[in-house]
Amino acid sequence: LRIGLVGFGTVGRGFFDLVEIRKPFLERELRLRMRVAAVLVRDAARPRATAPGSPPFTDDPAAFLGADYDVVVEATGSVDDVAPVLRDLLARGTAVVTANKALVAERGSELARIAGQSGASFRYEASVAAGIPLFQMLERSLRTTRFRRIAAILNGTSNFVLTRLARAEDPSSIDGALSEARGLGFAEPDSGDDVSGADAARKLAILARALTGREVAGDAIEAAGIADVRREDCAAAVAFGHRLKPLAVAELDPEPRGWVAPALVPEGHPLATIELEANAIHLTGDTVPELFVAGPGAGPGPTAAALLDDVLSTLDSRPASRAPAPAADRGLGTAGEVGSPWFLAVTLDPGAVEPRDVVEFVAGAGLPFAEVRRLGAAGGGLTLAGITERATRARVEAARAALTRARGVRGARAFRVLAGEGNR
Ligand SMILES: NC(=O)c1ccc[n+]([C@@H]2O[C@H](COP(=O)([O-])OP(=O)(O)OC[C@H]3O[C@@H](n4cnc5c(N)ncnc54)[C@H](OP(=O)(O)O)[C@@H]3O)[C@@H](O)[C@H]2O)c1
Repeated sequence: LRIGLVGFGTVGRGFFDLVEIRKPFLERELRLRMRVAAVLVRDAARPRATAPGSPPFTDDPAAFLGADYDVVVEATGSVDDVAPVLRDLLARGTAVVTANKALVAERGSELARIAGQSGASFRYEASVAAGIPLFQMLERSLRTTRFRRIAAILNGTSNFVLTRLARAEDPSSIDGALSEARGLGFAEPDSGDDVSGADAARKLAILARALTGREVAGDAIEAAGIADVRREDCAAAVAFGHRLKPLAVAELDPEPRGWVAPALVPEGHPLATIELEANAIHLTGDTVPELFVAGPGAGPGPTAAALLDDVLSTLDSRPASRAPAPAADRGLGTAGEVGSPWFLAVTLDPGAVEPRDVVEFVAGAGLPFAEVRRLGAAGGGLTLAGITERATRARVEAARAALTRARGVRGARAFRVLAGEGNR
């Protein structure tokens, strides 16, 4: 099996090493001789530690495309440079396997269409929750199950940060937890997309599209990040029997739409137990009401293993995803319409305002509390916290802005809450 490798960084190198390590197994057990025949990188002149007998490196896409491969494995992070290379390969019938979530989110439909026309495989297991073989599993099992909802933790860096923030003995700031994650080697030097929720939103869109076969509109997923979360928010969630987690939630029926945000998860929900850099996916379906999978979300080992699984799967004749249902003339829902219960914490100056007035004010803004409690606040204030009925973000933001302008109110914090089904 001749492999072309695009990208030789953390993941590309990890894949190359795994193929070397597993060569005896592949030959003995699967009767497969696999070798990386060429590597395309950004800068071939860059010095790299490679073993003798390593394949030739090039930074010229035309030279790379000049050879024939059985499968091309891509792990770069680039979209505009590599998309034409992969288009070419798929059009001529070469299987492509990628770990590149930006590419799959932005160009996945187009590449899958080209693959469908030429009969080539296009696979991307490693692009979402790399250590969890979700697509592999859903390709072979539960093929007739209709999934209505995804609730997931898809960004390991954000989960690590919120886990550390919630523990009293750990660093108390987002920045402290982020530099710790970088020191441990799993947060990228530029964590902007992790912290802003953009990374999880991309992965949620890929998952929603793979599960429904329907396109996910650009504005169908609302992304809010973890940058403003404070330790007190994590503690308030615990006081309400919840955990604050970086969630990605999509309703799939009738059209995929959803949100990414730090949100309260009830203690009894399996997602509440997912700590540090782990990822997890909870699916709600018809024949199978609940399916839960958890595992490592990234790292060279799990990502390389997912790429290698995909390479092996290109040898099967099965289609790589559920049959797509074109969404061209459907009215796609937008994220702004997605409702959920909210956790609202309002901190008051002592004696300046009656708690019952706050409850009435919140109800008047169309957000009746289902349950309210008094929590202590730093500096002698009183925090009134509760979980509201379902509402959209727009309604909550309007109420929160009005509350923070009111006399005697020091501040108001709002987080979505993961509720049961029909969370819209
Ligand atoms: N790191 C993880 O744990 C993980 C997990 C799952 C998915 N992923 C995804 O896997 C991809 C790679 O991640 P990484 O951590 O391995 O990144 P990385 O360490 O930065 O490596 C990127 C590699 O791609 C090459 N490259 C970049 N732009 C290119 C271009 N335009 N043309 C050709 N080669 C190009 C680079 O070449 P040079 O060596 O010449 O600079 C480098 O070898 C990303 O899409 C990432 O989102 C990563």
